[in-house]
Amino acid sequence: MSGQKSNEMLAAVYDKPGDASTVLSARYVKRPEVGAGQVRVRLAFSGINPTDVKIRSGRTPRPIADFQVPHMDGSGTIDAVGPGVEMTRIGQRVWVLLAAHESRWGTAAQWTVVNQDRAIELPDEVSFELGATLGVPAVTAANCLLGDGPITGKDVLIAGGAGAVGRCAVELAHWQGARVAASVSGEVKAEITRQAGADFVVNYREASAKEQLQAWSTKVAHIVELDLGTNLDLDLAVAAPGASIVTYAADREDPIIPIRRLMAAGVSLRFMLLYTLPAPVLAAAIDIVSAALAANALQLPPVQVFTLADIVGAHQVQEAGPTGRVLVELP
Ligand SMILES: NC(=O)c1ccc[n+]([C@@H]2O[C@H](COP(=O)([O-])OP(=O)(O)OC[C@H]3O[C@@H](n4cnc5c(N)ncnc54)[C@H](OP(=O)(O)O)[C@@H]3O)[C@@H](O)[C@H]2O)c1
Repeated sequence: MSGQKSNEMLAAVYDKPGDASTVLSARYVKRPEVGAGQVRVRLAFSGINPTDVKIRSGRTPRPIADFQVPHMDGSGTIDAVGPGVEMTRIGQRVWVLLAAHESRWGTAAQWTVVNQDRAIELPDEVSFELGATLGVPAVTAANCLLGDGPITGKDVLIAGGAGAVGRCAVELAHWQGARVAASVSGEVKAEITRQAGADFVVNYREASAKEQLQAWSTKVAHIVELDLGTNLDLDLAVAAPGASIVTYAADREDPIIPIRRLMAAGVSLRFMLLYTLPAPVLAAAIDIVSAALAANALQLPPVQVFTLADIVGAHQVQEAGPTGRVLVELP
């Protein structure tokens, strides 16, 4: 991979969906041009999420025009701006979200271009590593946790507290002054979740999980859920009348919704997908993440860092369901 021309960049690319080892490689491609309303970011780190590997594998089908650079999230420095963008943004450190959504230019490359509102100022004291872990998980967590009203002083339950989204939700809930319970599958994840600020952690695989949670609270006001089918019983066992449950994942078969039980419990269900959030709602969630960063409320999770040359390994680790986050460092 030598001989980079001045208008080229090194990028991970694929030109058809499939297994990482079959379709993904690092090679030189033309550097993207910055358009009206856009910024170009010289990337430091790219963050991988489940959505990136689902799209690359074809599980979430997306059109590919010629080739695709994967990954929604990243961090780096703005080095060019298009018409309509303040020149003062050049040199700004940023975290990037949704770069590969409806765009070829994901963050697994030396440069990306995004609309200016998808590159958010990263405070000087916040590392590029932390910046690359924000994007999809932190913004999802912000909307799921706070999109139904304030939670200060309330009991909240977060499923999968050591997951990328779940851990951000725990941090945000702790910062907001909620009483925070979270579910995990084992002690390593329990410790990650406690360090993120959970007051109570339960292993959802234990037979007594429901009783343990009920001993902690039976007036949970808000639940951030990623496996509604498996956890609905647990959720209803601790939910207060008027509680809201927000579900952001659909990895398992759709459950049958027990309408009468939900009516009797007075619980509302909301379903959330980042890609279809109305623009003002997305902007509000981004603002929450920025406020949390400014308040030092978000810390770096455990990370595994890969080089761009080992992009296949990075995707394979992400697909295996890592404890912590997978980042790619850009050369
Ligand atoms: N709607 C959206 O816009 C949106 C945004 C971000 C992510 N997502 C989706 O949300 C899912 C999670 O994303 P992520 O990045 O947070 O993944 P992740 O980092 O892999 O975290 C998922 C966590 O959930 C735990 N878990 C699995 N089943 C559970 C259950 N029944 N109860 C409690 N915890 C459980 C997993 O650990 P154990 O298996 O060890 O329990 C893991 O720690 C993915 O499907 C992703 O595509 C959707």
